[in-house]
Amino acid sequence: MTHRRNMWVAILLLAGLPAGHAAAQMPVLTEEGARQAADNYQRYCALCHGPNREGHVNDHAPSLRSRSLIESGFPMVLGEAIAYGRQGTAMGGYIDEVGGPLTRDQLIDLTLWLQREAGAERVKLGLEAVAGDVSSGAALYRQHCVECHGANGEGGTGTALGNPAMLALTPDSFLRHAIVHGRQDTPMPAFADKLSASEIDDVTAFLRSRGTGWTAEKRELRRPPPLGQYVINPDGEAPDFGKLAEGRYVSASVLDRELRAKRRMVLLDTRVTSMWQMAHIDGAVPIPYYANREEAVASLPRDGTWIVAYCECPRAAADSVVKWLREEGKFEHTAVLWEGIQGWVSLGYPVTAGDASQP
Ligand code: HEC
Ligand code: HEC
Repeated sequence: MTHRRNMWVAILLLAGLPAGHAAAQMPVLTEEGARQAADNYQRYCALCHGPNREGHVNDHAPSLRSRSLIESGFPMVLGEAIAYGRQGTAMGGYIDEVGGPLTRDQLIDLTLWLQREAGAERVKLGLEAVAGDVSSGAALYRQHCVECHGANGEGGTGTALGNPAMLALTPDSFLRHAIVHGRQDTPMPAFADKLSASEIDDVTAFLRSRGTGWTAEKRELRRPPPLGQYVINPDGEAPDFGKLAEGRYVSASVLDRELRAKRRMVLLDTRVTSMWQMAHIDGAVPIPYYANREEAVASLPRDGTWIVAYCECPRAAADSVVKWLREEGKFEHTAVLWEGIQGWVSLGYPVTAGDASQP
């Protein structure tokens, strides 16, 4: 079990986190695993995505065999979409952690199986933001995309591009890849020869700028709050997390309750910092899993304030940070968000893409 959990972490690490952080190996799909995945697919997915993964059978569910989706989305975007769903669309979360029918192992096998069936090789894309002119992108969107994706990105024939869960969890490079290459054998055209590279950047930047809502004005790289200003609700009481599962895990519902009760704490976003830029839990500061440990330890309050770490793995990066905070910093009041930020988003708790340090 732990073995497979590590494999899942490996999938996510392979998907985009800097190399060298894990001796990651792609898990292998066994024949038995493939057989079960095929059954699970027919049982849970064929209804909307079609018996042959062709898409558009119900609810405009996209194709799950187009080359451009599989090559750019495997394994991370696919695995995340299946596990946590796209809140506000017909695509629900299928992992048991958010109430779905699939175990983590089954989900890994299904993700691997989708790639095997499509036969598309993985294209590694970075997590860097695509720079572009948002207002030019908005005009291009109105001209070329509205008919299928809706005036407010609500979707239609095409995917709901204004969906915050989608935008929070897919890198710019994935969006751009879809626009350049289209989705083979679906209505989504390739724009490579219809728009220039910089126009494609503009429309990508425009989509990204909608991460906080379709009417948001602009996206800027945000600066995290300065050292020493990490504490949320500095005048609040200590949170009551109850008994932490396995000595460190707090659930999304308990964390949300304590944040609403204005309890004093520090929230650490331990993902690669570009993901903090895309969206984070309000008030969270980026201390990525690769941060300088001494600096991180020195920047955190030593007065017993609770420190809660989260990531999207959903726990691997946060677990590693809390481990060294405990070992090297002797911080006792530390916890990890069990569901990670994806579980948090898919359970309907809020995230922000605004500057958490501004009122
Ligand atoms: C009730 C209909 C429905 C069912 C059942 C369903 N999906 Fe989906 N799925 C959707 C819709 C609709 C979307 C597009 C959501 C959006 O607009 O962002 C989607 C999106 C996805 C995506 C993201 C694709 C992309 O282009 O980004 C993946 C991957 C996916 N589904 C896999 C699955 C798998 C695997 C199953 C079965 C375990 C499943 N879905 C079951 C409706 C469904
Ligand atoms: C003729 C209809 C149509 C037009 C026009 C169109 N799209 Fe699409 N788009 C789709 C469909 C349908 C999908 C889902 C593809 C599938 O079935 O796999 C999609 C998928 C996408 C995706 C992938 C989303 C995901 O989660 O995988 C992106 C990004 C996208 N479109 C952006 C755009 C942009 C930007 C434009 C305008 C420049 C545009 N599209 C124009 C129909 C269209």
